[in-house]
Amino acid sequence: MTRKAQVKGVGGYVPEKVLTNDDLSKIMDTSDEWIVSRSGIHQRHQADVGVNSSDLGVAAAKKALAHAGMSIADIDLIIVATSTPDAAFPATAAYVQHKLGSSHGAAFDVQAACAGFVYGLSLATAMIESGQTNQALVIGAEVMTRLLDWQDRSTAVLFGDGAGAIILGAADVAPDAPQVIKNYIRSEGAFADLLYATGGATATSTDSKIHMQGREVYRHAVTNIAEAVCTLLDMAELDVSEIDWFVPHQANRRIIDGVARKIGLPPEKTILTVDHHANTSAASIPLALSEAVQNGQIKPGDLVMTEAMGGGLSWGANLIRWS
Ligand code: ACO
Repeated sequence: MTRKAQVKGVGGYVPEKVLTNDDLSKIMDTSDEWIVSRSGIHQRHQADVGVNSSDLGVAAAKKALAHAGMSIADIDLIIVATSTPDAAFPATAAYVQHKLGSSHGAAFDVQAACAGFVYGLSLATAMIESGQTNQALVIGAEVMTRLLDWQDRSTAVLFGDGAGAIILGAADVAPDAPQVIKNYIRSEGAFADLLYATGGATATSTDSKIHMQGREVYRHAVTNIAEAVCTLLDMAELDVSEIDWFVPHQANRRIIDGVARKIGLPPEKTILTVDHHANTSAASIPLALSEAVQNGQIKPGDLVMTEAMGGGLSWGANLIRWS
């Protein structure tokens, strides 16, 4: 038996307001046909002014705690992955901790852009396995629409707001029991200029803007993500055919399909939410996990592979035997 991190619960939250592609075509020179054919996105959710990443994160965390049958008093670590923090500091996780009514344990943010959740899960796993933490709440929370320049149609159509949360707990388990099996994270700072934000880049800044070389990001994404998935499978001595569910970062349908083809994964094993959430950056994977658990796709015992790449460039993957 080994001390490992086990999934205890998962939850997701999106704000009520929906912006369809047709809504966007009224304020910029774009069309539903262009957006759907290039990205697979049909709509995105948008948080109201005054609602920040911590608020979305708290809503998702409450659902994850309810799903786990736990209370915030059980949690001794909160990690929030976000590119749209409430403020430059303190950590959005500190706001989340207070809003959830906790005053113990540690709370901090992880900044790895769209790969933030994969990084956060990796970190929480390591802290649990080392004995430093017993029960961790890992949140991906974003108000990406706050970073958008609505005059820039090449980025404004791609992003949305939302949050997802997962709870990991320590357990002494056998190798084939439910657990986070392994994680893999990578960065290559030489490509930082392919995708970055300027301005305040917080949830309350008004001068933020995303800069992206879309074609180059696309090219790196398919290569790097496929590399992460294959490396992780090798590390775990598992074959791609053993994956039950592939839960990719929901940036772009074409990237997701390209990776699945490259690694030889049948399309019916892929969880897709990009059509109705768009790219919610660090929130997209826990949101997709939550939806897939809720609708009965992911079940106890299933082998789940996540993956993401984003600004940095930063990328990685998590391999989980679901609880
Ligand atoms: N509506 C209509 N036309 C548009 C739009 C739009 N919203 N945006 C760009 N165009 C036009 C361009 O101006 C260009 O016109 P031109 O030929 O007259 O100059 C034309 O469409 C083609 O533009 P490209 O940028 O070459 O379009 P491309 O086929 O590369 O698709 C896209 C753009 C969807 C961004 C693609 O490059 C992509 O998916 N890249 C990956 C980026 C991504 O997903 N980033 C998310 C963050 S990173 C991550 O999470 C992995």
